[in-house]
Amino acid sequence: MNLSFENKVALVTGAASGMGLATAEAFAAAGAAVALVDLNEQAVRKVADRLVTEGHKAIPISCDVTDEAQVKRMVEQTVSAFGRLDAAFNNVGVQSLAVETAESTSEEFDRVNAINLKSVWLCMKYELLQMRNQESGAIVNNSSIGGLIGIPGRAIYHATKHGVIGLTKSAALEYAARGIRINAICPGAIDTPMVAAMIAKEPETMKDITKEQPIGRLGKPEEIAAAVLWLCSPGAGFVIGHALAVDGGYTAR
Ligand SMILES: NC(=O)c1ccc[n+]([C@@H]2O[C@H](COP(=O)([O-])OP(=O)(O)OC[C@H]3O[C@@H](n4cnc5c(N)ncnc54)[C@H](O)[C@@H]3O)[C@@H](O)[C@H]2O)c1
Repeated sequence: MNLSFENKVALVTGAASGMGLATAEAFAAAGAAVALVDLNEQAVRKVADRLVTEGHKAIPISCDVTDEAQVKRMVEQTVSAFGRLDAAFNNVGVQSLAVETAESTSEEFDRVNAINLKSVWLCMKYELLQMRNQESGAIVNNSSIGGLIGIPGRAIYHATKHGVIGLTKSAALEYAARGIRINAICPGAIDTPMVAAMIAKEPETMKDITKEQPIGRLGKPEEIAAAVLWLCSPGAGFVIGHALAVDGGYTAR
């Protein structure tokens, strides 16, 4: 199986941390030129500088992926630096504190919806304008097991992650015959700063997190990166509109 991304261009959002960071590093190691996108300008610049020092091709892009003008500029900067866009991992997302639905607020709904769902739609829109011209490309959107199942207290987050799969499937069908493949990935609990923050903020809800995983451990960001690279590779050439659970068995129960 060919997992080389030599002469390919990849864009990763949320590349300063967690799964985005691991995936940007994996794309770079596989030979891609990588645009590392994040709201945290300093952190993403540091990662891109390190990748360049290690001999890879990388640029940092400071961007709030909820802002349409900034997302448009993000794709323009990538194409201006590297000439094309072959693979995109729309990964940015945030958690929301567990709360009974009757107690949830419209401010929190709008905040999480903008970061987790609207951003994926915006990123796809501008990535697809470029990929449509090229008549080629692969997009992976980061959903969650929260896109496949419900968990009490998590209605807002899970609604946005179900929405990511809806966006993925519909857009995938639009572009299936035009050389562009769009899929979603559904991680289980992964050992990232997001989960560390949840454990710190919600020690009671999160206390059995490891035991709750059938595999008996949290996932590693690199295990998500490996699946994203495969989904973007020619080996996944017949995989379209799929929501791939990478969850240590969580949704197999
Ligand atoms: N960690 C998990 O267990 C888990 C499980 C399932 C799904 N997910 C999803 O995976 C994705 C990545 O999660 P993670 O755990 O690696 O997160 P993380 O918190 O470690 O990293 C998220 C990155 O996104 C950036 N970011 C946040 N808002 C942004 C914005 N508006 N514009 C640009 N960048 C922004 C942050 O600066 C950060 O670098 C999210 O969509 C999350 O919902 C996480």
